[in-house]
Amino acid sequence: MEEQREIGGNPLVLGIETSCDETAAAVVDGDGRIHANVVFTQIEDHAPFGGVVPEIAARAHLDHLRPVIERALEEAGIGFEALDAVAATGGPGLIGGVLVGTMTAKAIAMARGIPYLAVNHLEAHALTARLTDHVPFPYLLLLVSGGHCQLIAVEGLGKYRRLGTTIDDAVGEAFDKTAKLLGMGYPGGPELEKAAEKGNPERFELPRPMVGKPGCDFSFSGLKTAVRQKVSALGEPTEQDIADIAAAFQHAVAASLVNRCRNAIQVFSEMHGAGHALVVAGGVAANKHLRAALSDLAGKSGMDFVAPPIGLCTDNAAMVAWAGIERLRAGERDPLSFAPRPRWPLDPGAPKAVGAGVKA
Ligand code: KG4
Ligand code: ZN
Repeated sequence: MEEQREIGGNPLVLGIETSCDETAAAVVDGDGRIHANVVFTQIEDHAPFGGVVPEIAARAHLDHLRPVIERALEEAGIGFEALDAVAATGGPGLIGGVLVGTMTAKAIAMARGIPYLAVNHLEAHALTARLTDHVPFPYLLLLVSGGHCQLIAVEGLGKYRRLGTTIDDAVGEAFDKTAKLLGMGYPGGPELEKAAEKGNPERFELPRPMVGKPGCDFSFSGLKTAVRQKVSALGEPTEQDIADIAAAFQHAVAASLVNRCRNAIQVFSEMHGAGHALVVAGGVAANKHLRAALSDLAGKSGMDFVAPPIGLCTDNAAMVAWAGIERLRAGERDPLSFAPRPRWPLDPGAPKAVGAGVKA
């Protein structure tokens, strides 16, 4: 084990992400320069099952993480000795994968005598806009991924106030389940978006969940059920039918997200005043229709709209390295005794959403 060394103002950090079905490693510096960003997606391993199989994911992370880290270092043109710290997703997520990433990061930190940071995956998504666009605190964040759908006031590093969450499915889950109903592969979000481009959103009427209701919570399970009914009423849907339903679904989701964000903007402005940014993050933020709808809302509300590039919206390790850098600069470190957390809410004190089955 090496001596602990001084960390300068521009640390070089290795990020590791293994919480779901992407095995990723990245090297990022304190100026936000991404020296390497390697993402190995396990989609092919999980596709036959129509979703992520935790045991397969854990095994695949074990097989792929080492070569992925080696490739990231090679692309960055550095060896382990150049690293100032190592940051790995410590949760929330599928525990097998989180364990693989955590153990690997701890081993590197121990062997090199450098700090280890256990990063909250949601915090990594939440801070990505600071890596890409240097967005100052506070800002309003819409976090939309496969496992989460939350509106969060990001007030500072480690200061997250949840304004709303989903009472049933996460929005990415709704995309994936709806895509499955429409006969598409996994993950369905990108495929559904592609089909919707050729569709007429006006042909089928779908509910716009929660629109007009007070508060900032979300719900998507009713929308999914409505799609199921439309599909079974059609019997053998044609390609055009599917495109039209996909477009109607996407419009309904956009209307719902915009409506909930509008309420959240009001709450956020009462807390922090005007002139702040609306930031969108998480895999679903890759959807162009949703980005356009949210950008329009931000414009009308006098807010800047920030959406990271698509490759930094879906799971990646650059965001994990960056969250590590922010925490490192704040003087934070995690002990090597850190225990991975399958659940790890950003705002543990947040009131529960009205309804059952709330996700953290
Ligand atoms: O953030 P992410 O990569 O992983 C999680 O932390 O969950 O998000 C993955 C989710 C999946 O549900 C996927 O279908 C969805 O993001 N997604 C999309 C698009 N690209 C990815 N949903 C809608 N439109 C897209 N273009
Ligand atoms: Zn994610």
